[in-house]
Amino acid sequence: MNSLEKIDKNNIPQHIAIIMDGNGRWAKKQGQERLYGHSIGVEAVRESINACLSMGVKYLTLYTFSTENWNRPKDEVDGIMNLLVQTISNELELLNSHQTGLIVIGDEEGLPDSCRDELNEAKEYLSKNNKLYLVLALNYSARWEIKNAIKNISEQVKDGKINSKEITDELISNELCTKNIPDPELIIRTSGEHRISNFLLWQLAYSELYFTEVLWPDFKEEDLYLAVTNFQSRERRFGQTSEQII
Ligand code: FPP
Repeated sequence: MNSLEKIDKNNIPQHIAIIMDGNGRWAKKQGQERLYGHSIGVEAVRESINACLSMGVKYLTLYTFSTENWNRPKDEVDGIMNLLVQTISNELELLNSHQTGLIVIGDEEGLPDSCRDELNEAKEYLSKNNKLYLVLALNYSARWEIKNAIKNISEQVKDGKINSKEITDELISNELCTKNIPDPELIIRTSGEHRISNFLLWQLAYSELYFTEVLWPDFKEEDLYLAVTNFQSRERRFGQTSEQII
């Protein structure tokens, strides 16, 4: 029995989020430039999409570029943006044939024009697809997102559109970039780092966290199946006791 067959099809996370980490260290180990690590990281993106399609996961969110990543050397930032444009363009037909839609979360206005244009075209082209949604977090940070939500909600209160007593979890969720996307049940970080790094801080409230030593370019379908198998072994209590949820 392979790892996919061992997975309980009745307990598949609807939404998996991944912090793809370790491209730079992987490249260094190979005696290569960091950008080479990012380019091989695209292969791990393909593997993850295939695994999600095989399991029937509905949303796969990838932390692709954070608001803090602009502080990297210019060559690396430009290289990641070019890689993104190239990859979206190269993979468009394949994504379409797999009925995969594309969603971007983050400050798209701050992205280079070429990148924004490519993303907009791809979103439009894939807009009828609903088997899997690939959610790319680009120029994203959770504090930026939460700050915007607070600004919008306070404006609505100031303008008398809502009363502050009407501020609920649901109302806040609806002001986030992930509006209409269920919270991730499982978040994975590769490369042995145990941090959340400003990713989906509101949405992760009850997510199961899974950390693996595997560097992102080495991440294979099999690694995602292992993560889901591990997820299925967890008891998700949402603040209740074990006895209550049996
Ligand atoms: C983190 O590794 C990786 C990134 C910040 C970039 C991820 C981008 C890609 C995989 C390329 C394109 C992606 C898509 C979705 C088409 P790191 O550089 O922080 O590694 P390190 O911690 O070892 O230095």
